[in-house]
Amino acid sequence: MTATMPKAPTLPAPRGPISEAVLSALRGNRPESPAVDGSPPYGEDLQLALYCCYEPHYRGFDGVDADLEWDPALLTIRAELEGAFLGALRADVPAGADVESELGELLVEHVDAFGVSHHLRRQGELWQLREYVALRSLYHLKEADPQTFVIPRLDGPPKAALVTVQHDEYGAGDPERAHSKLFADMMAELGLCEAYGAYLDSAPAEMLAEVNFMSLCGLHRGLRGALIGQFATVELTSSPGSDRLVKAMRRLGCGPAAIRFYAEHVEADAVHEQLVRREVIVPLLSAEPELAPDVVFGIRGSTFLAARLEERLLRHWNRGESSFRSGMDGRRP
Ligand SMILES: [Fe+2]
Ligand SMILES: [Fe+2]
Repeated sequence: MTATMPKAPTLPAPRGPISEAVLSALRGNRPESPAVDGSPPYGEDLQLALYCCYEPHYRGFDGVDADLEWDPALLTIRAELEGAFLGALRADVPAGADVESELGELLVEHVDAFGVSHHLRRQGELWQLREYVALRSLYHLKEADPQTFVIPRLDGPPKAALVTVQHDEYGAGDPERAHSKLFADMMAELGLCEAYGAYLDSAPAEMLAEVNFMSLCGLHRGLRGALIGQFATVELTSSPGSDRLVKAMRRLGCGPAAIRFYAEHVEADAVHEQLVRREVIVPLLSAEPELAPDVVFGIRGSTFLAARLEERLLRHWNRGESSFRSGMDGRRP
């Protein structure tokens, strides 16, 4: 039996002139250069446009010519969007080069910390949990793919160790255990649509920016240090957050397929954390010590963007409102 690739998602609705121009180019029209200057770098329009520029490198969009992945005009627009996004991030996160202390800081669980997983564990409602999962699907249905782009940019021990982690992420030879599949199974059990890209129109810029940062760092060899920093941030912080989400799901009476994704991450990421620290970062920085500032940038950039998303979710939920941008919310599947 041959497995067929599921249908690619449909193009989303535009959110302003830049995304309108990118979407028009993806529909096969002659690309027009939108004015990027002055558009908020973390805003809906710019982030959606950038997301749509990256998606042809993954599954593409339904009806969009696969060759547009390397269309020079679209790549020119993408470079401008990346410049604006990267410029804002470099200005917003302080520079540093002490990777060891940065990693140590990631492992500290602050007693007064209160993020989305704390909220969901203690008092979050089922519709909020479903909303969180629906938004996170923008990344987790392609989990590990942005980081895979860095493999050919590494060599020797860090490459071997990173591939060991990725092997687990892709199910260690069993497609049913691939983390993206476990995520899809969780979505189905929660009554969400598990089709790739189904929640793109609902996802606010804060979610798109997180995924865009991974794609940006994965697709640029010059940002491989930042990609490793981003990768380390996920692997080092995932285990305690996943544990809280397992508890949230149990408290809310979710079924085993829903619990399995985060339960798997409590175990797997405790191992991945060690691999990333000792076998990816240490040999990478001993071979290329000049990458240290970018590793720190990757850690701080991804932490900054994750905090923006958490802040949006909690702000909306505290008001009893959906955090979705538009369309269906977690209360009405
Ligand atoms: Fe994973
Ligand atoms: Fe992992």
